[in-house]
Amino acid sequence: MIQTDYLIIGSGIAGLTFALKTAERFPDRSITIVTKSTADESNTKYAQGGIAVVQGNSDDSFKKHIEDTLICGDGLCDKAVVEMVVTEGPKRLQELIDWGARFDNNAEGHLDLGREGGHSKNRVVHYKDQTGLEIERAILLQVHKTRNIIVYDFHFALNLITQNDTCLGACVLNEQTHEVLTFQSDYTVLATGGIGQLYGHTTNPAIATGDGIAMANRAGAAIKEMEFIQFHPTALYNPNSSSTFLISEAVRGFGAYLRTKVGRRFMLDYDERGDLASRDIVSQSIEKELKRSGDACVYLDCTHLNSSDFKNHFPMIYENCRLLNIAIEKDWIPVMPAQHYLCGGISVNQNGQTSVTNLFACGECARTGLHGANRLASNSLLEALVYADNIYRFLAEVNEKKQAINCIIPECKSNYGPPMDIDFLSKLKSELQLLMQQNVGIVRNDTDLFRTQMQLKLWQNQVSGLERRYRISKEIYELKNMINVGILIVEQSIKRQENRGGFVKEYKKLQAADSD
Ligand code: FAD
Ligand code: SIN
Repeated sequence: MIQTDYLIIGSGIAGLTFALKTAERFPDRSITIVTKSTADESNTKYAQGGIAVVQGNSDDSFKKHIEDTLICGDGLCDKAVVEMVVTEGPKRLQELIDWGARFDNNAEGHLDLGREGGHSKNRVVHYKDQTGLEIERAILLQVHKTRNIIVYDFHFALNLITQNDTCLGACVLNEQTHEVLTFQSDYTVLATGGIGQLYGHTTNPAIATGDGIAMANRAGAAIKEMEFIQFHPTALYNPNSSSTFLISEAVRGFGAYLRTKVGRRFMLDYDERGDLASRDIVSQSIEKELKRSGDACVYLDCTHLNSSDFKNHFPMIYENCRLLNIAIEKDWIPVMPAQHYLCGGISVNQNGQTSVTNLFACGECARTGLHGANRLASNSLLEALVYADNIYRFLAEVNEKKQAINCIIPECKSNYGPPMDIDFLSKLKSELQLLMQQNVGIVRNDTDLFRTQMQLKLWQNQVSGLERRYRISKEIYELKNMINVGILIVEQSIKRQENRGGFVKEYKKLQAADSD
């Protein structure tokens, strides 16, 4: 049994920020991070556009950022949360800078501010088109320098340990030895990120399998607004690759236009903000254009932009396009929408508390009320920073009066049965991704949702049978978690009877099917 004061599951911006702040404040306390891949692997690492934070020296204001967030969330944001997150932004950004994260400056020596969809002002602080990589590098370096933080990489959290609705730690698989370890903790923080791998077409890396949400769900925590899946409008269209590279929205903020194959600029037909409408509207508009034309993709036209400025702002995007023989000076970039972000998740209050005692959640796995029906671009890194800080401050206060929790918990059990056939699991995973992509995408209908629910439940039974017979592995648990999360998305999509933000359901198809 490994005992620790704080157990943090996940090493993206949310988990690392909480760990670092707590470790600095309480040098005598033990902080343990478990993470299922290398410590830097995360959605955070791939963030491009940046962090939306109002700067005092611009013509922006908190009021405008709050308004943009509320408009984007289409009436479902929690206004108090939006106000709190936006106004905390500058302090949290300053901490990142103090930890050594670099951001681009403009010619006057102030932070350079990019623009993205749904923002009425330039307010996105960035480092080239690799903001996430830079943030992850800087915080991880500080974490590795901090004596009272231990990072267990390649350790996969399987289940939370609970007694009487209180979280007491987690069972964690050492991926190299296959041993299941018991981590007992006073406080557990889920910072496990997104769910992109449920979809065949996603901007998220392989780690994004919704594990934290599934674990919290099994532990009885409330999970909300899973129907609000965000699809990014401009993922690079590349039929020869299974991974999906993002073309940042900041490229449209820099002046690029969306065009159909025949060159028509279509966004003004849908929204007066044109190419810089919010993400839900742009993705839904592209989907309509593609259905109408039968084309596989639309195009991002950068040919009118100054190419050396483009290269300077977006070196990674420029280089990735070049490797695919797309010269942005003369070729349009083929793009299409892809799953990108989950707006809902584990329900938390402003202290990051879930409905299970001593279990906290922050970052993409948490549902805070900031995003409502659709997240405003570059508000995710901001939310992760602010909620990691809120949990830290809440627990710091509790900890001044802390009594050690003395209870005996059973050791987690290892299972050394025969290994499961990995090819079988990856085939099932591909089928799941296809099903979610086809039936639970940008536009849904109840007929397909009910069919998907039935299929997911069949797979759920199948996988729980396998789990009993075979050796516990990361792959089997990821699949189990993806099915669990898929069921939550489908059930909550069925329940929602009104289209809002990123959620669109066609009601006609079900009625037609009913009257057959
Ligand atoms: P993550 O960074 O995803 O970290 C999750 C961690 O949990 C990982 O370390 C993972 O390995 C670990 N983990 C998961 N399950 C387990 C388990 N069972 N056991 C142990 N460890 C586990 N947002 C913005 O605000 N601005 C942007 O410009 C932006 N650009 C983006 C570009 C891309 C391509 C993508 C994919 C996302 C982008 N986002 C952006 C969204 C943003 O990056 C994420 O929402 C945010 O980084 C999530 O941070 P996190 O700490 O919650 O999770
Ligand atoms: C992007 O750079 O387009 C992604 C920004 C985000 O997800 O907030």
